[in-house]
Amino acid sequence: MSTPLPRWLRAAVACCTTLAAASTGTLLALPAAAAAPAPPGAAAQYPDYAPTPPMGWNDWSYYQCGIDEKTILDNAHALVTTGLAKKGYDTVTIDDCWMSRQRDAKGALVADPALFPDGMAYVGRQLHQLGLKFGIYEDAGTSTCGGYPGSLDHWQQDADLFASWEVDYVKLDGCNVPTKPGETEEQSYRDTYTAMSTALLNTHRPIVFSISAPAYFQGAANWESVIRWSAQLGNLWREGADIALGQAPGREKWASIKDNYGYNVGLPALQRPGRWNDPDFLLAGDSGLSQDEIQSQTSLWAMMAAPLISSTDLTHLSPAALAVLGNEDVIAVDQDRLGVQGKVVQHDTGYDVLSKPLAGGDRAVALFNSSDTAQTITTTAARAGLPSAIGYALHDLVTKQVTGTTGVISADVPPHATVLYRVHPGATRGAAPATALTWQDISTAEAPGTYRITLADHGAVPLNDTRLRVTAPAGWTVTPATTALPRVEPGGTASATVTVHGPQGTPGTTVTAITATASYRARPTAVDTVSGDRTIVQTVPYPSLAAAFDNVGTTSESAPAPGNFDGNGDSYSTQALAAAGATPGATISANGLGFTWPSSAPGTADNVSAAGQQITLTGQGTALGFLGAEAGFTAGTVTVTYTDGTTSTGQLGFPNWCCSPTDAYGAKTAFTTDHRNTPTGPANYGTTYGVFTNTVPLTPGRTIRSVTLPDAPALHVFALTVQP
Ligand code: GLA
Repeated sequence: MSTPLPRWLRAAVACCTTLAAASTGTLLALPAAAAAPAPPGAAAQYPDYAPTPPMGWNDWSYYQCGIDEKTILDNAHALVTTGLAKKGYDTVTIDDCWMSRQRDAKGALVADPALFPDGMAYVGRQLHQLGLKFGIYEDAGTSTCGGYPGSLDHWQQDADLFASWEVDYVKLDGCNVPTKPGETEEQSYRDTYTAMSTALLNTHRPIVFSISAPAYFQGAANWESVIRWSAQLGNLWREGADIALGQAPGREKWASIKDNYGYNVGLPALQRPGRWNDPDFLLAGDSGLSQDEIQSQTSLWAMMAAPLISSTDLTHLSPAALAVLGNEDVIAVDQDRLGVQGKVVQHDTGYDVLSKPLAGGDRAVALFNSSDTAQTITTTAARAGLPSAIGYALHDLVTKQVTGTTGVISADVPPHATVLYRVHPGATRGAAPATALTWQDISTAEAPGTYRITLADHGAVPLNDTRLRVTAPAGWTVTPATTALPRVEPGGTASATVTVHGPQGTPGTTVTAITATASYRARPTAVDTVSGDRTIVQTVPYPSLAAAFDNVGTTSESAPAPGNFDGNGDSYSTQALAAAGATPGATISANGLGFTWPSSAPGTADNVSAAGQQITLTGQGTALGFLGAEAGFTAGTVTVTYTDGTTSTGQLGFPNWCCSPTDAYGAKTAFTTDHRNTPTGPANYGTTYGVFTNTVPLTPGRTIRSVTLPDAPALHVFALTVQP
C-alpha cells in the first residue's frame, strides 16, 4: 500500500488476526514447540542485553501521538519519585510520532522541533541523569505506523544516530515493510530486522533490541518461525496484537488483556533467559479497569516472564495502581533469574492455573479467574510441579498472607482476578492453615436463591469455633446471615445453607457480589478468616432500543465535539444525514425494510454501541432487520428470546461506516452521506460514510419477547424492525 493504513484499521486488522489465532481456545496453551536450531544463514546471535525481562515505561497506549519533551520527562520524573525506577522500571521509551515527517538533507532522522525543541540527545541526557535508560521507536519499513520516516535502507545511519544520542533500547516496529520481488514476505521482514540487528551491533553500544516482526505474522502458519529468528536478532519481540489504547472503554481494555494473555501464554517454548515474548504494555493506572483487573494483568505478565512496561500517565498514578506496579514480590516473580515463562498446568471453562519455577526451588502459582463470576479454583502442589513434601507455605504475593497446606492449593477468586502464590515446599509451623470457601447454587423452582457454602481445611490442623457470616449490599437479604459451623478436621469440610434475595435489577445487567467470611481458631493466639464471593448477575431487558443508548452516533456541524462514534471522536454529521433523509423520527425504507430513525438530538447518545444489551421487542415475522454500521471490524451473535421461552440466534455484522466493502457480513447499503464530523468540525468530504441494513432469521410462528444485541461495542445499531 502506498499510504499506511489508518491506525484504527490496523488495530482492527490486528484484533481480527488475534481472534482467528485464539479461536481454538483463547486461554489454552498451544502445543509446546520443540526448540529448533538456528536457521541456515542466520545473523550473529544478538548479545544478551536483557538478562531479565525489560521493565520501564512507554508513552504509546496512553498518549499515542500526543507527546512532547515535557510529557516524556514528567513521566520519567514520576518513575523516580514513585519509587518505581528503583524497583526496576528503568527504561523510558519514546514511541511513534517523535520525528519530523522528512529526513534532513543528509538523510538523517530529525526529532520534531516543535515537540522536542532540545533534541533527542538532550532528552537522553536528562533520562540518564535520572538514572534511567533511553528507549526510542523506529520502524523497519518505509514509514512508521504513524507515517513518519522508517529505517528501511538507513540502517547504519539510524543506528549510529541512536548510539550518538546514547539510546539504550530500540523498539523497531514492522509497519510498511515492502516485500522484495522474488522474496517471501517473511524473508523481506527477516532481511530488514537482520539489517538493523547488525547495524546496532556495529555501534558497539549495548542497545536492547525489541522486534515487532512476529506481530505482523500472528495467526499465520509461519508465526513461530518469525519468532524464532526474532529471538536470534534481538532481545524481545512483540508477537501479537496491540494492547487496548488508554482511551478505550474499560471492558475493551479487559478484553484485550485477556486476548494478549491468550496468545502469549501458549509460547513458553519460544522464550529463554534473555529472549522474551512481549505481550505488550501494562495498563495499571488506566481508567475503566478494576483493581482486580490491573492486578491480574500484572500478576499474569509476571508469571509469563513478560516485559513489565507501563503505559499510563504516571504523573497521576493512584496509590492503588502504584501498589500493583510496585509490588516487589510480584516483580521478583517476573524478574526471577531462572527466566522461565510460567505454563498453564490446569485449564477449564473460565479459569487457568499457571505455574512458574523460581530460583531456589519455590514455584509461583497463579489462579486466574477469566470469567465474569467468582469461582473457587483448586489445584494441587503436585499438579503445579512441586516436589512431594510434608507441607507447603503459600505466600499470597498480593495480600502478603502466609498459610500452610498439605497439598491442595485453592481460593475463591473474584471475577477477572488472579490469586498469586509463591509456594515453598517445607514445614509451615506457625502459619494459619490454608482454607477456602466454595459457593454452590442449589436453587430449585420452589427455593430460588439457595446456596450451599462449604469451608474446606487444606492445612494440617483443625478449625475450631468456626462461624460463617454472609454480607450483601443494601436491599439484599441473606438468611441466615450468620451461622456456627462444626469443627473442621484437616482435609475435611463443613457447610451451611443460605438463601439470598435481592431487588429486581434496573434495566441492563447488574452484577452483585455477596461475600461469605468464615472465622475460626486454628492457632493458639489468633482468629483467622477466609472469604469467598458469589457473583449474582441480573439481566433486565431495556424497555426499548432507545433506552439502551450509550454512545453518540451523530453530531451537528455547529457542535461536533461531543461526538464519538468511532472511538476516536468522530461521528456522522446530522446535516449530512438529513441530506440523505435521516432526520429525527423519519421513516427509513431500504432493502425492503422500514425503520424509524432515532429521534434524539444531535450530540446526545442516539445509537447503540452493541454490548450485549437485552431489549424488549414484540412481533412475529421471518427476520429481524437492523439499521447500523460498525467502526471496528467485528460481527457478533444476536439472540432472540420468544414468549414461550425458546430462543434463536443469528450473526449480525455491518460494514465499516467508511472505507471498506459495503457488502461485508451480507449487509446492504441503506443510504450514504458524503462526509463526517471530527471534534473540530466537518471533514473528509468526498469519502462515503454509509448506514447499512442487515437481517437475522426468526423462528416462524413464534412471538418475540426480547432481543439480545451482540457483545461487540464497535457494532452500532440505529434501529431495528421485524420483517413480516
Ligand atoms: C504499532 C505498535 C504500537 C505502537 C504503534 C505506533 O501499532 O504495535 O505498539 O508502537 O504502532 O504507531
